[in-house]
Formats: sequence, structure tokens, C-alpha cells
Amino acid sequence: MTYFFVLGNNTELSRAELDAVNNREGWGFTFQHISESISFGDTSKDFKPTEAINLFGGIIKIGRILESVSTIEDIPSVALEELPQEGKVFFGLSTYAAGGEIKSVQKKEKNIGMSIKKALKEAGLSARYVTSKEDVLSSVVVETNKLLTKGGEVVMCVLKDGVTIGITEAVQPFEKFGERDYGRPARDSFSGMLPPKLALMMVNFLQLPKEAVVLDPFCGSGTILQESLLVGYTNCIGTDISDKAIKDTHANLEWLKEDVNVETKTVQVKKCDVKNLDDCVEKNIQGIVTEPFLGPPLRGKESTDFIRNIYNDLDKLYAVSVQQFSKVCTKEARLVIVVPLLNEQKFEWPGFFSEIESAGFKRTDTGSLVYAREGQHIKRIIMVFQKNA
Ligand SMILES: C[S@@+](CC[C@H](N)C(=O)[O-])C[C@H]1O[C@@H](n2cnc3c(N)ncnc32)[C@H](O)[C@@H]1O
Repeated sequence: MTYFFVLGNNTELSRAELDAVNNREGWGFTFQHISESISFGDTSKDFKPTEAINLFGGIIKIGRILESVSTIEDIPSVALEELPQEGKVFFGLSTYAAGGEIKSVQKKEKNIGMSIKKALKEAGLSARYVTSKEDVLSSVVVETNKLLTKGGEVVMCVLKDGVTIGITEAVQPFEKFGERDYGRPARDSFSGMLPPKLALMMVNFLQLPKEAVVLDPFCGSGTILQESLLVGYTNCIGTDISDKAIKDTHANLEWLKEDVNVETKTVQVKKCDVKNLDDCVEKNIQGIVTEPFLGPPLRGKESTDFIRNIYNDLDKLYAVSVQQFSKVCTKEARLVIVVPLLNEQKFEWPGFFSEIESAGFKRTDTGSLVYAREGQHIKRIIMVFQKNA
């Protein structure tokens, strides 16, 4: 069976996440990364999009591929076969570039929609054609207009030599992510909150079995711990130097237990300066996922020297951290860590990389995993390492 996966804004991160989750879950997919916005995956194994979507931070939609057609006129009949044959049918269309020029299909999207609507009416059904101002229907539009339960979103992937048609089966659970971001009792906007979607992607990059012992040594308000628990890691440890962070993490874990019904009693949370990590945790850590201190908030106008000084201080902190990681980690342990890109000014991280090498960590990511939001002066570079055996 072939499925399509609509990727989030940070294409490289979403592709890496697809590979990582596929490996961990043993789905057996072979992926074709067709375009910036969409990937296709083939598997002969059992795969449930409605369950799988909850495991991803960077996948917006998952659906089944139905058929490929060479002319636009053939699209309505393929779509009609998939849409319900009773009740009021809610349907919508989205066009994605998949290697081909999408303009010609986008121009005819309305006509395709109208002919589907007409055919449904002729079959005696009442139909609602859902459209939006955006180029494609968002997951919010798909969900709130009942397209997954009372009709369908027909996805048209425009290739060089035709259109591959799919039907959406699951969309990103935007409400749950919103709750996990804004619904928690303790939020610390000063030290910067890691978006839960990115925290989830980072946890996925671990690619470790769910029994692994996982540590976040800069746990802040506990976002990475929260996402680790939701993925199914139970042996989680969070440490942080700040009393407030420890208090916030406890409050957020309590909320997770009460409101989201996630078991948290196996999580350990301790106050600890990363410089003394080997005195605070056992030496059995198999995975570290962390966003360390990334420096003070920036306005974008700081001088080159000012930024260089911040980088030098952070480099020292990260170097000491890696020395400690090496002491508490087991062989083949995995490390997923964020380092900042400040005001687009590049930095080589000499201290950090020198300790990485001494500790026997090898970099395994593509070198281009960057998370950035419009207007932010601090971009996040995500690096993945594995310790030698
Ligand atoms: C960017 S925040 C982490 C945010 C966290 N990922 C979250 O979403 O809440 C960095 C954290 O590093 C902690 N920190 C700074 N220096 C530290 C040190 N030397 N040892 C341990 N924690 C430290 C701060 O207290 C802060 O909570």
C-alpha cells in the first residue's frame, strides 16, 4: 500500500522524523521524498494513519494513495469512488506539488470540485464543497469541517507526467498540541519554551526502544519529558540548575497526569548543575534529548562581538556538558541536542566539538536540521550523535 505524508514547514526535519519513526516502529516503509511538501511511502505491513499521526511532530497529514491519472478530467471519477454514498457529503480538495507544475491543476481545482459536487447531487446526495483562502486545506479546516468523518479531503499530487490522487486519513492533532503548549500550568516565556512539536521530533530522533533510560539535563519546564512520556518512554529523568524549572516541571507533570491521563510516577526530576551531572544521575543513560540554555533573548541588532561573546560562553557550557554526558552515558548512547544560530551569525563550536570527539560521539544527522519561525533571531540547529560501542 502507498501512503502520502504532508510535511511541516521545516522539510528536512519532517523527512528525518519520518525515517526515524519508521525505523523505531518497524513499519517497513520505503520513502520517496517527492517534493518539499510531500513524501510517498510504500509498505506491505499493517499501518494505521489515525494512530501513527499522534507519533509525529512534523507531519501534517497522512493519507492513502488511490490512483494516478494523466488528465485532470479523470480526477472526479476517482474521487467519487472514495467519497461516502449516503447522507450529507462534506468534501474538499488540496493540490500539492510532487515534482510537477501545480498551477494548471490549481486553476482547475474549482471546476473539479464543482463537477464532484454535481455528480454527488445527481446521485441524490446532498454535498458540501469545503474551500479555503489558503492554497491547500489546513488540518484545522479538514478536521472542523468533518472531512475525515463525513466525506473526504481529496489530495492531488502533481507529478511531471500526471496527477496522483490520494485521500486523507488523518491530520495533525492541532488541539492536543495547543493544549500541550498553552494549556499547561507552568510556562516560562523568559528562558524560552521549546515548542512541543519540536520536542516530539527531537525525542523521535533518539530511535531507541521505549525501555531506554532518557535524560534531559536542561529540562526547563519539562517539555521534552512530557513528549518522551507521550511517545511511550517511561524511564525519564529531568535535571535543571534552577529551582523554578524544577517546580515548573513538577507542576506540568502533575497536569499531564491529571488532565492528559499519562502515567508519570516513573519520572525522576532533580535539581542539578550540569557541571555535576555525574553526581546526580546513575551512569546508565541511553539517550539524552535536550535544549540547553541558548543565551539571552535577542533583538536582531546586536554587534558581531556581542554575539561572539555569547557564543564563546555557550561553547564553554556545552563543552563541560558533553564531558559530563560522556560520564553518565552507556555505550552507543544517543544524544539529540539543540545549538543556537544567533542573528544568522555562524559559529564553529570549537570547545563543544572537541569534547564530542574526545567522548567518542559521532554525528549522525544530515547537517541541515534547522527549526526556525518567521521573525525569530535565534534559530535552532538540531544535532544528533551516537556514542561509540
Ligand atoms: C532553554 S531552557 C530549556 C527549555 C526547556 N526545553 C523547556 O521547553 O522548558 C534552558 C534551561 O537550562 C537551565 N540551565 C542553565 N544553565 C544550567 C546549568 N549549568 N545546569 C543545568 N541547567 C542549566 C535553565 O535553568 C533553563 O531551565
